[in-house]
Amino acid sequence: MPLVSMRQLLDEAAKGGYGVGAFNVNNMEQIQSIMEAARETESPVIVQASRGARSYSQDRFLWHLMVAATELYPEIPTVLHLDHGNSPATCKSAIDLGFTSVMMDGSLMEDGKTPSSYEHNVKVTREVVAAAHAKGVTVEAEIGCLGGIEDGHGAGGSGMEHLTDPAQAEQFVKDTNCDALAIAIGTSHGAYKFTRKPDGEVLKMDVLIEIHKRLPTTHLVMHGSSSVPKELQDIINQYGGKLKQTWGVPVEEIQLGIKNGVRKINVDTDNRLAITGAIRKVFFETPEKFDPRDYLKPAREAMKKVVAERMVQFGQAGRAKEIKPIPMAEMAEMYKKQLVNA
Ligand code: G3H
Ligand code: 13P
Ligand code: ZN
Repeated sequence: MPLVSMRQLLDEAAKGGYGVGAFNVNNMEQIQSIMEAARETESPVIVQASRGARSYSQDRFLWHLMVAATELYPEIPTVLHLDHGNSPATCKSAIDLGFTSVMMDGSLMEDGKTPSSYEHNVKVTREVVAAAHAKGVTVEAEIGCLGGIEDGHGAGGSGMEHLTDPAQAEQFVKDTNCDALAIAIGTSHGAYKFTRKPDGEVLKMDVLIEIHKRLPTTHLVMHGSSSVPKELQDIINQYGGKLKQTWGVPVEEIQLGIKNGVRKINVDTDNRLAITGAIRKVFFETPEKFDPRDYLKPAREAMKKVVAERMVQFGQAGRAKEIKPIPMAEMAEMYKKQLVNA
């Protein structure tokens, strides 16, 4: 099966009332973990690459790994999505490479750190929507900013400083015609999101519910949605790591989001934790080993386990066979004839 558009997967998810995990990739092992988890759980899947990932793996390596994934897992509807595109040029380069979905994160300026004006956000998002839709490619946009700068994207702070304003979100979707909307509800990227199990004071599910009321047909996206499980923190610390105790977004809150219009859930940190814990364990227990396969294999297994668990929890498990891929040229025609609505 060729790569499919994210819009198609999210429309299907809305019909079925489930969410789709978007998992970050930087290398072959991570792509293999995601595709194996998708096969095991029969899930459609979104594979996403950040700007950092594209430069780490180099575009051509990344692209051919994704082509291999579609050849080796033909039964899995797979999206290749650009995570946090910082400018129209970055998004256009991903579209040219063959990505079937891009995020234009115009909530921040091109540096990925400075909150932008509403006007800037609308301008760059509209530019990307025009270029992307002409090729059938999906566009995710963002209004409001996540906290933290731990991994390079975010306005800093706790995540409470730039929450999405529901009325502005409603206007933004009208102004841009984006396919999916990332919102800020108090989460941050990385491991250090909350200093205690989050409640309504710090994780604003009420804001999400209000946005969904105003935009009932818009596909909402939750970034910074790793759950940062204590078990994964403990494995790292047990084998010589030094993580401070921290809390992520509980899976039951994500499930509440899915009941209220969330269709795409971004998870990267949980996989990073799983990989690091597995590698540390091998190094600690068998320090005489030096073949990378001895630690990359368990790392790959550990990530696959996390991804498969999330696929079941988000409800995408078992849904792969329901999706009949719409060719990208047909998606482009549908946008042209305005058969795809915001
Ligand atoms: O949003 C951030 C993702 O976790 C990707 O992070 O830019 O370090 O690849 P990265
Ligand atoms: P986490 O850091 O919570 O995994 O979030 C990832 C993300 O939002 C990627 O865009
Ligand atoms: Zn993000």
